[in-house]
Amino acid sequence: MILVTGGAGFIGSNFVLDWLEHPQTRDEAVVNLDALTYAGNLRNLESLQGNAKHVFVRGDICDRELMDRLLEQHRPRAIVHFAAESHVDRSIHGPGEFMRTNVQGTFTLLEAARAHWASLPESERSAFRFHHVSTDEVYGSLAPGAPAFTETHPYEPNSPYSASKAASDHLVRAWHHTYGLPVVTTNCSNNYGPYHFPEKLIPLMIVNALAGKPLPVYGDGQQIRDWLYVKDHCSGIRAVLQGGRLGETYNIGGWNEQANIDIVKTICALLDELRPDPAGAYARLITHVADRPGHDRRYAIDARKIERELGWRPAETFESGIRKTVQWYLDHAEWVAEMQSGEYREWLETNYVQRGA
Ligand code: NAD
Ligand code: DAU
Repeated sequence: MILVTGGAGFIGSNFVLDWLEHPQTRDEAVVNLDALTYAGNLRNLESLQGNAKHVFVRGDICDRELMDRLLEQHRPRAIVHFAAESHVDRSIHGPGEFMRTNVQGTFTLLEAARAHWASLPESERSAFRFHHVSTDEVYGSLAPGAPAFTETHPYEPNSPYSASKAASDHLVRAWHHTYGLPVVTTNCSNNYGPYHFPEKLIPLMIVNALAGKPLPVYGDGQQIRDWLYVKDHCSGIRAVLQGGRLGETYNIGGWNEQANIDIVKTICALLDELRPDPAGAYARLITHVADRPGHDRRYAIDARKIERELGWRPAETFESGIRKTVQWYLDHAEWVAEMQSGEYREWLETNYVQRGA
């Protein structure tokens, strides 16, 4: 079996669902550890009710005793580590929790993994994997026309979030170099798709448009991100977990650079087609608001290494992926409504009111 951390969040829940569906992995059980912060939602995993291959445990990766107990009890052959605080804007308003979960939590998990790994018989020890799920944001911001990030690009994190992820990447690297822990790290670009919490650009724009609310574009909207459909990220992680070389990092990306304003216009056009608003075209709601402090201008991933070594490429185009995503939000109004708790409304106040949205 494998242990997944953060498997009730956006990417983690997509990964667990995919794992237990995919013909090559579905017979291998998943222990899913998640603290169920504001970003975690057991609803994402509803379809696994009654599936004995899925064991959910509510808990914190900073809890060393719990980690030791889980590893001893379940003896996973791999840990796939998603659990993190993941939203850049929240890291600007309150960096403390990012340091605790992303840095201290990864440290705690690495130490628990190291003790577990050392206790395994030799045959199991060499097969063990610690897969660290990280981000392209650790590389900083690219100038227009500069080549996309390769795995050897210097680390230049700019936000408290990306600095905390960079720190966690360094810890993982050191635990391999010093202790020989069998690790692999993946650095992925911006994901989108089902179960994406509506604090992030794509789901926020869909949810706001459907509610007739302003679509708050930071600054000039010309910042570029490289978007990947979440299920492609999951297949990339599976490929690296299975065949990635120990101690290596692999970039995962969609070869799909787009300016934020173009993403928002695409969403508006799809909604005009799928759920026309009698009040007029959704693009009328686009509102430029104060920029994000320290806003990275451009990310782009060079994903040739994972393709060359492991034969991975994204299956989804942006056109097909964004259409599926908008349709998913139209079909899951109840999920969206549940996510819009008091905490969510408070966050909107904190982040948007002072921006003039
Ligand atoms: P998310 O915020 O949607 O989910 C994070 C999950 O981790 C939640 O379920 C939350 O409850 C859980 N969690 C938080 N703190 C915890 C703790 N202390 N102990 C246990 N569980 C805890 O995040 P996401 O977008 O699904 O991202 C998952 C991982 O992928 C993160 O490590 C993130 O840095 C990385 N990543 C995300 C993207 C993206 O576009 N979203 C891209 C590249 C990499
Ligand atoms: O690149 C990978 C990263 O992508 C992940 O590591 C992070 O966990 C994930 O949150 C994401 O970070 P971004 O900051 O790129 O994503 P976000 O959806 O917050 O913003 C995308 C872009 O849209 C960014 O340039 C900021 C802008 N934006 C965002 C919001 C929420 C807006 O213009 N308006 C908004 O309301």
